[in-house]
Amino acid sequence: MNVLIINGPNLNLLGKREIDVYGNVAFEDFLESLRLKYQGDKISYFQSNSEGEIIDHIHANGFEVDGIILNAGAYTHTSLAIADAVAAIKSPVVEVHISNVHKREKVRHKSMLSAVCSGVLLGFGLDTYRLAVEALKGL
Ligand code: DQA
Repeated sequence: MNVLIINGPNLNLLGKREIDVYGNVAFEDFLESLRLKYQGDKISYFQSNSEGEIIDHIHANGFEVDGIILNAGAYTHTSLAIADAVAAIKSPVVEVHISNVHKREKVRHKSMLSAVCSGVLLGFGLDTYRLAVEALKGL
C-alpha cells in the first residue's frame, strides 16, 4: 500500500508539546518504528502549520495514494476548506487524533472533517496512526 500521513499545525512539536496530552515521542521517531513494522508498504509523511499547504498536499496526492491518514490538528475543528479538499479527492481518508478529543474542551468535540472521511480513530496516542494503517488495509 501507498499511504500518506498528513499532520497539521503544532504537530511538528510532538515530544516537546503538552507531553501530558500528546506524549514524549517525536513523530519522526514514531514514524521510523511504523515504517519498520510495515516494510512492505510505502508510508510518506508531510507536516505543515499552514492550511493552504495541507490543502495543496491533499490535492497533489489524493488521486494517487491508496489512503491518507489525516491529523489536521486544530484545523479539524474549524476548516471547511480542508473538508472540501477531502471531499474532492478519490483516496480514502482516515481522520486521526492522538488525544481523546471528546474528553477535552467542548470546542474540540466538533469535527469539520469526520463527515467526509472514511472513518475516525482517536485517543490511543501515537498508536492511533498504526490503527489507521490497519483500517486502510481493511478497506
Ligand atoms: C489533535 C487534537 C486537536 O484538538 C488539537 O488541536 C491538536 C491535536 C490530536 O491529535 O489529539 O493539535 O488533533
